Amino acid sequence: MKFPTKTARSVFKKLIAVIPKKLQKKLFGHYWAMHSPDRLVLVKEILPKFSKAGGTMLWVGCEKYTRTYPKLLEKHGGVCWTLELVPEQSRWGNSGRHIIGDLTKADLLFPEHTFDVVFCNGVIGWGVNGPEQQRDAFRAMAHIMKPGATLLLGWNTYRSKDPVLAGLSSGWFVPGTLDGLEQKFKIGEHVYEIFERKD
Ligand SMILES: C[S@@+](CC[C@H](N)C(=O)[O-])C[C@H]1O[C@@H](n2cnc3c(N)ncnc32)[C@H](O)[C@@H]1O
Repeated sequence: MKFPTKTARSVFKKLIAVIPKKLQKKLFGHYWAMHSPDRLVLVKEILPKFSKAGGTMLWVGCEKYTRTYPKLLEKHGGVCWTLELVPEQSRWGNSGRHIIGDLTKADLLFPEHTFDVVFCNGVIGWGVNGPEQQRDAFRAMAHIMKPGATLLLGWNTYRSKDPVLAGLSSGWFVPGTLDGLEQKFKIGEHVYEIFERKD
């Protein structure tokens, strides 16, 4: 299935957004997640750079289409944990290194200063929705990240207000970068941003 124009794609996504979330996922989730331009950049350009950098990583939010990511991230000796709220989705996490739980309470799930990298892509606006919850997620992520660790944040402009502009991350994070990636870039309606956990 190919969409004729950018505008048609955008209208289509806005229409999908009004359908109940469970039905959205059933009907279109897998196809769109695998083929969207932001996903292709994530898998082909962004994750390989993080994989090369290695370290102890946390991937948040596990779906069928993300099941191969932990192995990709561990290819060069890194260690990748996965975290997912929904118990049934554990099967898409990294076997032996998966935790069922809430990102906003991640500080209760992992020891302080555990991770060199946290990937929080498609969770803001897809479960972690209001400003309070989003601030809690940043706070909890900062707690389990080492000082100077990297956060890859990915969010959809049609699912959430800008959490960074709202000042929800600034208590714990400053702009960062990794291996030539821009600090912030937008692909369609998906925003990627890289942050460094404050010392
Ligand atoms: C749209 S999917 C994105 C999955 C994946 N992170 C990606 O990049 O495609 C959102 C996922 O985040 C999970 N999720 C939502 N809120 C969460 C929370 N508070 N803690 C952990 N996982 C959460 C959902 O259950 C779902 O699997």
